[in-house]
Amino acid sequence: MRVAMIGTGYVGLVSGACFADFGHTVTCIDKDASKIEQLKAGGIPIYEPGLDLLVASNVKAGRLFFDTDSREAIRQADAVFIGVGTPSRRGDGYADLSYVYAAAEEIATLVEGFTVVVTKSTVPVGTGDEIEKIFKRVRPDADVAVVSNPEFLREGAAIEDFKRPDRVVVGTEDERAQEIMRELYRPLYLNETPILFTSRRTSELIKYAANAFLALKITYINEMADLCEAVGADVQQVARGIGLDGRIGGKFLNAGPGYGGSCFPKDTLALVRTARDAGAPVELVETTVKVNDERKRAMARKVLKAADGDLDGKTVGVLGLTFKPNTDDMRDAPSLAIIPALQDKGAKVQAFDPEGHEATKLLAGVDFKDDPYAVAEGADVLVIITEWDQFRALDLDRIKLVMKKPVLVDLRNIYKPADMRARGFAYSSIGR
Ligand code: UDX
Repeated sequence: MRVAMIGTGYVGLVSGACFADFGHTVTCIDKDASKIEQLKAGGIPIYEPGLDLLVASNVKAGRLFFDTDSREAIRQADAVFIGVGTPSRRGDGYADLSYVYAAAEEIATLVEGFTVVVTKSTVPVGTGDEIEKIFKRVRPDADVAVVSNPEFLREGAAIEDFKRPDRVVVGTEDERAQEIMRELYRPLYLNETPILFTSRRTSELIKYAANAFLALKITYINEMADLCEAVGADVQQVARGIGLDGRIGGKFLNAGPGYGGSCFPKDTLALVRTARDAGAPVELVETTVKVNDERKRAMARKVLKAADGDLDGKTVGVLGLTFKPNTDDMRDAPSLAIIPALQDKGAKVQAFDPEGHEATKLLAGVDFKDDPYAVAEGADVLVIITEWDQFRALDLDRIKLVMKKPVLVDLRNIYKPADMRARGFAYSSIGR
């Protein structure tokens, strides 16, 4: 199959490389010439484990191409994927669809022969209908099927998630389109991955319903963590105790500083808007959004408490800035809310993250260090915000030695309270 992938952001690039690896001929297209130059030269604009090798081997095999010019690739394509961004619109929380519609206009002018036009970007229910209208207006003669095919990729594990998904969802009732989509995902089909064909609107909603449910699950265990602290229980044992019930499931029950990232915050907000507009408000999701926002601020109060109620003039060391490990993504990272709140309380903040280089632009007044020990040096409190593997194996004696006071706030529960106390740390964590 021939595939054109519009947008070489996270979703577009991972999906494009994986489809090429499935044996299809893929051209990834982006208007950003510097990005395409970088990709052509073998560079990868984002940090995602394994992506560099996957891209290189498929380029070498002659299956993966990069271009700023979409004409040839779209004309030849059996399927054109739209993988451009759908950020939250500033101020109102609706998904900004301008990039999606611009891509649709461009595709419409270029398609030849029967072509499946697929939205991979997360788009609100009804967007497929709007794209169809664009085609009817711009190219009434075009033979296209507009299909929804949401991605469920986790950053840091995206290639694994693409190649071994729990399911693939395809929203189309057009039989020719179903045939092409089946062919595109053929290797998964052979692995007996369920491929769920639904109506387009249903497929669009499945993506939001899944992300909102996961956000809700995390928020639930976070509230249980607070309750555990109040009544003297252990949230990790609670999570295990409930997670072993197959109806609940043990995944996504790690209590922490609140969810962040490029999907959950944006998608929950967009779902709230869609639901309100449809006259069927999703109050559980509305509450989840509110509770999660408040949680990030509450984390700063936790640090304040660990510093005996006074952070004025004190030095706080922060380990981990990205919204989760194994990514360089800073979007809606809890650190972006927690650190300014600490600074408001008078703290001086010094921080380190293995990949969160962008933080230097997003966080003012922070002293960025090159390693965890430099962060601990002279600190009154050390806070773990993101659970990078390297923070799980710190030389704690060395940390203790260089800190002003051995006070550790572990917002990801990566250490054991008893161990830490035995080592002489004043240690606090989440829900234990
Ligand atoms: C998510 C979905 O998992 C994916 O299916 C979807 O397509 C995009 O959004 P991603 O944002 O990459 O993926 O990260 P994920 O691993 O889901 O984590 C999201 C946030 O929740 C992170 O801030 C993470 O730290 C937090 N989280 C996750 C928890 O606090 N506890 C958990 O148990 C799991």
